[in-house]
Amino acid sequence: MDGDDRPTRAALEARLHTRALGRNLEIHDEIASTNTRAVALAREGAPEGTLVLAEVQTEGRGRLNRRWYAPKGTSLLMSLILRPALMPRQAQRVTMICSLSIVEAVNSAFRLDARPDWDAGERRGKEARVKWPNDIVVSGKKMGGLLTEMAAKGDLLDFIVVGIGLNVNLDVAALPELTAPATSVLAELGRPVSRAGLLAAILEGIESRAERLAQGWSPHEEWREHLATLGEWVQVSVPDGMIEGIAEDVDEDGALLVRMRDGRLRHILAGDVTLRRH
Ligand code: BTN
Repeated sequence: MDGDDRPTRAALEARLHTRALGRNLEIHDEIASTNTRAVALAREGAPEGTLVLAEVQTEGRGRLNRRWYAPKGTSLLMSLILRPALMPRQAQRVTMICSLSIVEAVNSAFRLDARPDWDAGERRGKEARVKWPNDIVVSGKKMGGLLTEMAAKGDLLDFIVVGIGLNVNLDVAALPELTAPATSVLAELGRPVSRAGLLAAILEGIESRAERLAQGWSPHEEWREHLATLGEWVQVSVPDGMIEGIAEDVDEDGALLVRMRDGRLRHILAGDVTLRRH
């Protein structure tokens, strides 16, 4: 790291090679929630690629009405506005390209840090993966999460806001005790990284995948390769109760296909997956 960890406008501009993503940028020292701000901007007509970044959030929101905690200056806390020509039922494709771009960027840092087997110790084989539907995990511990909010106009999406919280240079001991096992890039790599550099890499990954998305591509094959959930016995809470079974696959729109005990295959669009260990 070059000592310039704060993702300022200048630090980002020096690293960013995108066409649209991150070009319209708001950076806040402190904000209630970058998602709340980005949704308001999107409703006012903010262009595709608008990015809201914050050093700390006072009311950071997670999925399922949970809070998102991150001590000031340790993480990437951001919300990105996209306006893809997709139907609302295809919205998860946008979240998928974002989670793929996050694991790609984090894994490139892991690979650069790779050491020969005899010197790797417990860093050997580290890999960031996606826990269905929207968590970023490393060795079963959560490194980040995505919260997507959207609005439709007619049959199509008007906008999507993808909120990303990624633990970067975070000492996990600083998190409240009640949160699930957490990790950070720092904890996994053993050294801090440039948040601006990581952010630029993530945005570049999203932009190139968004261009393919616009041509009708579905990211589900690439996503499948990076899902920690497939092949696991899962419990999923859905509006009509709890489903248990083997997570067999995902479909083009990111639904999880769960093979239940009675042999039936259930498509699950949204919910919370708990991986059960045997
Ligand atoms: C989750 O795993 O529950 C999703 C967490 C998403 C947190 C991010 S932090 C930036 C953005 N603003 C918010 O209020 N939430 C998202």
